[in-house]
Amino acid sequence: MSLPSPTSENRAVVTGASSGIGTALAAELAGRGHSLILVARRGDLLNELAQRLTLAHGITAEVRAVDLSDRAQRGPLVEELSARNISILCNNAGIATFGPVAQLDLEYERAQMELNAVAVHDLTLAVLPGMIARGAGGILISGSAAGNMPIPNNATYAASKAFANTFCESLRGELKDSGVHVTLLAPGPVRTELPDPAEASIVDRMVPDFMWVSSEYTAKVSIDALARNKMRVVPGLISKGMSVAGQYGPRALTAPIAGAFYRKLGG
Ligand SMILES: NC(=O)c1ccc[n+]([C@@H]2O[C@H](COP(=O)([O-])OP(=O)(O)OC[C@H]3O[C@@H](n4cnc5c(N)ncnc54)[C@H](OP(=O)(O)O)[C@@H]3O)[C@@H](O)[C@H]2O)c1
Repeated sequence: MSLPSPTSENRAVVTGASSGIGTALAAELAGRGHSLILVARRGDLLNELAQRLTLAHGITAEVRAVDLSDRAQRGPLVEELSARNISILCNNAGIATFGPVAQLDLEYERAQMELNAVAVHDLTLAVLPGMIARGAGGILISGSAAGNMPIPNNATYAASKAFANTFCESLRGELKDSGVHVTLLAPGPVRTELPDPAEASIVDRMVPDFMWVSSEYTAKVSIDALARNKMRVVPGLISKGMSVAGQYGPRALTAPIAGAFYRKLGG
């Protein structure tokens, strides 16, 4: 089975489409002829993207400016998606915080859990019955290499991405032979835009240019992997290294090493 072919009725949904990997996923899907529903908070950016992709590829692009961390705003979108023919769902919107969790803003930490984990669960469960009934569909979840291991000073993010990683790969086992493809995108660092040298983060400064992967490359290999129903896509050398260390390294060893590195990001 392959992914559903684009029709005038069906839609590929991309959350977090207003920047970074989400914009690239939307462009990749539009390039393959899929009409879209673009989701994020910044409606102005989504409208510009919708216009650009419509002109370039002759697809239809609908915009839903929704704060996915807000249950009241998310509810109507969940209801809409459960009633429509959704061919592909890219659960991609996500945020991260760095530093000791007790010192971080409580409301923002809660919003992070709601966005990175609960919204992913809600949107997936909304589209799943329709996909199963049609015997076709694709669900891509943007987890993270950070979800493979405990990371002090990145606790909420690492734990929320552990949910995303495990939910995605568990769901996949349930959907074997259903015709619904499920793929986890679990990257390490992806360079979503070139950093201003004056404001470059420690990761930008420490990782040589040739080791970064771009949003566009990440989006392409992700949709290729979803089309082939691969379990997990891990783009680039650093991501693969992080993935192996996180999945197979002893946690008593990887946690303090990762924690020391992330303490610098928190600073
Ligand atoms: N880039 C990396 O190095 C990397 C590595 C591993 C995993 N990932 C994961 O990949 C995904 C995309 O990352 P990225 O680097 O492309 O991120 P990004 O450029 O910061 O984009 C995040 C997207 O999420 C949307 N978003 C944030 N809060 C939202 C909310 N409350 N409601 C709805 N949308 C919201 C943002 O749009 P608005 O601000 O307009 O709402 C934006 O479109 C994330 O899940 C991230 O955790 C990224």
